Amino acid sequence: MRKKIVAGNWKMNKTYQESKVLVKELKKGIKNIKLDNTRVIIAPPFTNLQNASKKTKDSSVEIAAQNMCAKESGAFTGEISASMIKSIHVDLVVLGHSERREYFGETDASLAAKVDTALKNDLEIIFCFGEVLEDRKSGNHFKIVEEQIKKALFHLNSDDWKNIILAYEPVWAIGTGETASPEQAQEMHAFIRELVAQRYISDVAEEVSILYGGSVKPANAEEIFSKPDVDGGLIGGAALKSEDFLALVKAI
Ligand code: 13P
Repeated sequence: MRKKIVAGNWKMNKTYQESKVLVKELKKGIKNIKLDNTRVIIAPPFTNLQNASKKTKDSSVEIAAQNMCAKESGAFTGEISASMIKSIHVDLVVLGHSERREYFGETDASLAAKVDTALKNDLEIIFCFGEVLEDRKSGNHFKIVEEQIKKALFHLNSDDWKNIILAYEPVWAIGTGETASPEQAQEMHAFIRELVAQRYISDVAEEVSILYGGSVKPANAEEIFSKPDVDGGLIGGAALKSEDFLALVKAI
């Protein structure tokens, strides 16, 4: 049975000291929540990744990096490699976030290369994609999402998909307070699962967790999470306060 997942993407928030406090609060709070077939993941900034990894070693909170270089090593100033991430016992990485696509020029092709490097280094991937508002308005959203997934992931074999978590994040719903309706999320998630089923065997589609991201908060989470093809959430703003994030874990 595929896992339910609540993942927090901290983006460029929290200093080292602030991160330490939040990790501590989450670690403590999570102990009081019964996790039934559910994974809890947080993606702090690189400056706190090692601390978060150390501090959660004996906890059910898992740690993800927010980005990674496609190259294995070398003269790439400012970049972080897959093996560096693995070396601090972090086994997950977020790739393809719309902010990386929009502000840092990441493309389907460059993401396909990152996906390959991550898998080669035994990193599990939370792969993000989603349409912008114009695409939604013009009815192109299915086509856009299909292309993003096909171009970055459909060269993989069935076995590789054991290390893929999908995250549908409509760009118009990120940080805007506007959420896709539970019906819109379900419709897209069912479409994605069908897409994967057509390309691979249906087992792959049934096993892959598909998260929804975009203004998920304690007030709207339960309804979104209740949809059959929504296996959890990738959370931005509400992941920055332990109280809110823990409420989302409870909501799943
Ligand atoms: P918000 O929850 O702040 O809308 O962000 C969603 C997101 O981009 C998570 O990766």
